[in-house]
Amino acid sequence: MLKIAVSGKGGVGKTLVSGTLAGYFAQKGYKVMAIDADPSPNLALTLGIPVEEANKIVPISENAELLDKKTRTDYPGVYKLHFTVDDIIEENGMQSPYGVNLLVMGTIKSAGSGCACGANAVVRELLRHLIVDRDEIVIVDMEAGVEHMGRGTASQVDAMLVVADSSRKSLEIAKKLKIFANQAGIKNVYIVGNRVRDAEEKELITDFTQKNDLSLLALIPYDDTVVKADRVGEAPLKYAETSEGVKAIQSIGEKLLQLDTKSAESETS
Ligand SMILES: Nc1ncnc2c1ncn2[C@@H]1O[C@H](COP(=O)(O)OP(=O)(O)OP(=O)(O)O)[C@@H](O)[C@H]1O
Ligand SMILES: [Mg+2]
Repeated sequence: MLKIAVSGKGGVGKTLVSGTLAGYFAQKGYKVMAIDADPSPNLALTLGIPVEEANKIVPISENAELLDKKTRTDYPGVYKLHFTVDDIIEENGMQSPYGVNLLVMGTIKSAGSGCACGANAVVRELLRHLIVDRDEIVIVDMEAGVEHMGRGTASQVDAMLVVADSSRKSLEIAKKLKIFANQAGIKNVYIVGNRVRDAEEKELITDFTQKNDLSLLALIPYDDTVVKADRVGEAPLKYAETSEGVKAIQSIGEKLLQLDTKSAESETS
């Protein structure tokens, strides 16, 4: 089953793409797990989970009781590295109205800001388990980097979508992210051009990707419906019939499903 990571510069539309794709797959009847791995998580709203419910979610990395149960030993500073995570998914996942199961990972504090080894171990193992062991579609809404993924996990990611808009900054960041992702072990990296208002913006994105040998998977138009849905905390998917932005993301979903079938065929042949 497809394992997808979504990355890109801040504010380019990662959460829109992650949440709408996840909902699309769920509506198609697939079992889908959406992972919010952004330090300021807000994937829940895009998935259609009401604000009051979303606010109650305790991210895994902040769930002291859970982390303690999983990783604590009798020795200070020593953490267990082997523990089960299936139960974490069952107990901490939240179902969206579109049938997506959401897991919020939370912030991983870097070294120096107090030890977060326990939280790091749990998040790493959760990501590994979801991507390597489990048979369901997994979509990870990430902050820019892929450093919380071990190589074994990254090599099992079927596609990393790097979202960019026509701004030079977001395109340059996309270029770097592709290199980092490849180095981390992710083979298929695709650029998704978002918030495209006109032919000029389309050309900026197309030219940049061609010149830099980046593969452009799709373009998503600028769409007021998405902005309006965001303003009131609704899922853009609610407007799937009329929203050109949502429709474009649905066709990205179709393309990804085709890629998945192709790779499954080539594996068995
Ligand atoms: N195609 C689009 N048309 C119009 N507005 C869009 C489009 N895509 C995203 N937006 C708007 O841009 C803003 C940022 O989108 P989103 O939250 O998905 O980005 P992000 O990359 O996840 O941001 P962050 O880095 O803060 O997590 C939102 O207000 C969203 O509604
Ligand atoms: Mg986001």
